[in-house]
Amino acid sequence: MAPTTLLHPFSPPALGPDGYINVVSGEGAVIADDKGNDYIDAMASLWYCNVGYSRREVIDAITAQLNRIPAYHVFGPFANDPSEELADRIAAIAPVDDPRVFFGSSGSEAVDSALKIARAAQVQAGRPEKQLIISRMAGYHGTNYGGTSAQGLLDNKKGFGDLLGNHIVVPQDDVEALATVFAERGDEIAAVITEPLQGAGGVHPPPEGYLQAIRRLCDDHDAYFIADEVINGFGRLGTWFGSEFYGVRPDMMTFAKAATSGYVPLSGVVVGASVRAPLEADPGFILRHGFTYSGHQTACAAGLACLDVAVDEGLLDRATALGARLRSGLQSLVDDGLYQEVRGDGFVFALVPNEGREPVAVRDAILGQGVIVRPLPGAISYCPPLVCTDEQIDRMVDAAAAVA
Ligand SMILES: Cc1ncc(COP(=O)(O)O)c(C=O)c1O
Repeated sequence: MAPTTLLHPFSPPALGPDGYINVVSGEGAVIADDKGNDYIDAMASLWYCNVGYSRREVIDAITAQLNRIPAYHVFGPFANDPSEELADRIAAIAPVDDPRVFFGSSGSEAVDSALKIARAAQVQAGRPEKQLIISRMAGYHGTNYGGTSAQGLLDNKKGFGDLLGNHIVVPQDDVEALATVFAERGDEIAAVITEPLQGAGGVHPPPEGYLQAIRRLCDDHDAYFIADEVINGFGRLGTWFGSEFYGVRPDMMTFAKAATSGYVPLSGVVVGASVRAPLEADPGFILRHGFTYSGHQTACAAGLACLDVAVDEGLLDRATALGARLRSGLQSLVDDGLYQEVRGDGFVFALVPNEGREPVAVRDAILGQGVIVRPLPGAISYCPPLVCTDEQIDRMVDAAAAVA
């Protein structure tokens, strides 16, 4: 059958329309397709819908903003209240020194912005030779050229021709390897970018002390530490940000996804004092970087409403409690020999199938049980809305048990 006009991301372009599930509605942690099937969404869509679907508070805030003005840009000389207020609110909860907040729409834009801002700050600080970007294997940093060049999922880098120079991907979780790169090329390093807990690359928590080692190496070599919080941020680990969960203070943090739970796309970069200082030192310097929708009022209104929901409903504590329940359920499957391993932190986990079972096949079988998980390299993942019920968690576990 001929493919549809829509060209799907991360899909075979040759696939016909029968290969897709047509999603038409959602409520809480459940979505429905056009054939009347319900699914418990154990992935919060693509790791983002923390507050759940059909939230009246978020819809009302968006509608109210649309009725005033949907968007007006914030390139100089313009400003608007929702973006200023959201920047204040995010700065207040970010584990970054004295930050300001830059906005974009996608996680990939946030990553590219952080990488460019890091290089710009090095130039402004009088260190133009520091242009190298270091990242680690299994990291996912989006699909713009910067994020593609930085990412450590090698299949995603193939077949697009030349990527950006001055990017080095070091072995995963290997402090020695990182220290060697710093010893050899520390004078050239602009920044290290890493997810605190690696998400799309397989849900890998950092080894004890690893993020702290990055912090020390960056401090010793005037390099910036960028935490890519696109999945970790806004409550996934039971803290506002993954950096807080693992006890580290980066110079910059990228965020997206759960910032608005996807109601309207919004992303950004938290830019800390060490980066601000050189950028603000010369009054004549202009940050020639930004997106049409940086500071989009309606997206920022959605972000403010999502923060309110998270605070009012205690979603951070809820993530911790729900995560403990899901972890123990998945662990019982491992203890029974049905799966090999469960790993993760907070409320995001990977479950590794037994030898010979492909993650895509396991995902399909679990889908047949009415639960959505995601296949990753060597595992399936769980990243449910923070508003799901205990009963829904138990159904997620039962579905994985039923197909093992
Ligand atoms: C850690 C991380 N960074 C960046 C991105 C890219 O975000 P987007 O797909 O919104 O561009 C993702 C997306 O999953 C991500 O997980």
